[in-house]
Amino acid sequence: MPRKPLIAANWKMYKVPAQAEEFVKKFLPLIEDKDRAEIVICPSATSLAAVVAAVQGSVLAVGGQNMHWAEEGAYTGETSPLMLKAVGATHVIIGHSERRQYFGETDEMVNHKILSAVKNELTPIICVGETLEEREANKTEEVLLRQCQIAFKAVEPEAAENFIIAYEPVWAIGTGRTATPEMAGLAHFYIRSQVARLLGRKAADSMRILYGGSVKPDNASALANQPEIDGALVGGASLDPVSFAKIVNY
Ligand code: PGA
Repeated sequence: MPRKPLIAANWKMYKVPAQAEEFVKKFLPLIEDKDRAEIVICPSATSLAAVVAAVQGSVLAVGGQNMHWAEEGAYTGETSPLMLKAVGATHVIIGHSERRQYFGETDEMVNHKILSAVKNELTPIICVGETLEEREANKTEEVLLRQCQIAFKAVEPEAAENFIIAYEPVWAIGTGRTATPEMAGLAHFYIRSQVARLLGRKAADSMRILYGGSVKPDNASALANQPEIDGALVGGASLDPVSFAKIVNY
């Protein structure tokens, strides 16, 4: 079974609800083929409700950008999986490198969040990727292996079949530097083979592995042509409906 491509928009800390609604209104008519790819919009927590309402009846799904693993508790400032679900989100980004870099998220926290997403029936979009120093020290595979090994601890192989992984080399995020399609293809192949080792062939074959890091309309098709790349997690270029539509339409 071929894997259906998935394109996710990571809006990071941009757009208030009115801007988010405006985006959806402009973006929806620009999608050419509504069945070719799954599209997930991940707005900030305060715009989730507005985006869920705006996408009603369309092919768009909505995801959170982060969550706590606990269902409720004294965790000031956090959002729980129950809260994401209640507002209508179906997906959640976990372990984005900005969370790891600026908010101290560890591989173990990523693992707790993944297990909680499974329990709460949210589809995790799990981010992995090496920094520039790690790549230059030839540690890309070691880092990806460690991130995957810890992320998937105690995960049931069947639960992992609908997981989404985003390979996002940290040095390519928001920098305008993209991994070449070949570099990304190799990293994706490596990740999939490790997933096969950790969770079995079935999970590895069904799991979508997205590329993320300066995906733009002019490099999207070359990346999409790599057989190991099942879609994209798009930051900067997803903020504008026209440029995000160009990426989705490739
Ligand atoms: P970028 O961000 O497309 O702006 O590089 C990607 C991401 O952080 O998910």
